[in-house]
Amino acid sequence: MAPIFDFDQEIDRGDSDSVKWAKYRGRDILPMWVADTDFAVAPQIQHALQQRAAHPVYGYTLVRKQLLALLVARMQRLYQWEIDPSWIVMLPNVITSFYLACRARGKVGDAVYQPQVIYPPFAKSPEFYDMTTQPVPMRDSERRMTIDLDWLEQNPARPGQLMFFCNPQNPGGAVYRRHELLRLADLVERQDLILVSDEVHCDLILDADKSHLPIASLNPQIEQRCITLMAPSKTFNLAGLGCAFAIIANASLRRQMKVDPFIVPHVNLMGLAAAEAAYEYGDEWNRQQCAYLAANRDYLVTEINSIPGLRLDPIEATYLAWVDVSALGLEDPPGFFEAAGVGMSPGRDFGDPGYMRFNFGCPRSRVVEAVDRIRAAVESIA
Ligand SMILES: Cc1ncc(COP(=O)(O)O)c(C=O)c1O
Repeated sequence: MAPIFDFDQEIDRGDSDSVKWAKYRGRDILPMWVADTDFAVAPQIQHALQQRAAHPVYGYTLVRKQLLALLVARMQRLYQWEIDPSWIVMLPNVITSFYLACRARGKVGDAVYQPQVIYPPFAKSPEFYDMTTQPVPMRDSERRMTIDLDWLEQNPARPGQLMFFCNPQNPGGAVYRRHELLRLADLVERQDLILVSDEVHCDLILDADKSHLPIASLNPQIEQRCITLMAPSKTFNLAGLGCAFAIIANASLRRQMKVDPFIVPHVNLMGLAAAEAAYEYGDEWNRQQCAYLAANRDYLVTEINSIPGLRLDPIEATYLAWVDVSALGLEDPPGFFEAAGVGMSPGRDFGDPGYMRFNFGCPRSRVVEAVDRIRAAVESIA
């Protein structure tokens, strides 16, 4: 029988140099912001790290064939996507790839197409290379926020340019459907684009009737145009270990990315050990995690929508709720909620100041406490 993992456990991260917890240290503000969870890492991963730490030499370390084989098998099993181990590029994090892609493919003045509402580092990398960003507007169809493919069709990018894409979408948590991905793939092909597809939240699908589909797996044409980004960091709560990977089928694109160890550091040996254990043994733990997160999500959606002036659309994936607070007419939404004792990520950082992003990857008791505080603060100004 599978062990039952305890996601209700309250773990004190106060003295663990956690970015999330340090921000509000000494203040009565619940940290519901940056995207890591407060859950204990799966025991098998902890064990693998302890085993590796027990060996007293921590020298330069190879990526084991076993890890690549696990990734190849995983793509096949989950997505019927046949990849070659040589397509896998190990990276110390996902964000690095945005910069590598801009450096590889961008020219000064180019505009990188990307979702208008998006995880902030998407927009920063083009700026770094004196490029600009071209926001692709979002559509809110059936309360799912996705990029507007009609707009993309009517406003084609310059051939050869980059487009950044995020599936599942952060923020908002939409999981793109096959027909949407097919249409995007067709546009990318017709407009002659290179697609950087950030799929870091792919294992955090919260509903049994939805599933992730890597856009690169759709057909050999789009596969040749894609840089697919994945990592164990969000799913298995390993962000502090720095381990991610890109899948790039196109050999010349892979070369252009120039993942040179003098510029992009090796993945460290603990990150590699954790990734291998996560992909070998972590599925059951993650199945239980997703069920727990789905229950947190259900609670949050019901409660937030019962507070006048707030709105929360269904969240299909991730542990990040995108709460519409615009109807409250607040001058400073982040400050208002901090004063109420809840530290969320400001929507303005993602492209929409009328929203706040709430991280519900934590024990239910904290979600309940945060909602109570939000409700009391909003009711006090009604
Ligand atoms: C969509 C998305 N991409 C990338 C990252 C960051 O990944 P990494 O820490 O591996 O750079 C995050 C973290 O929240 C994210 O949500």
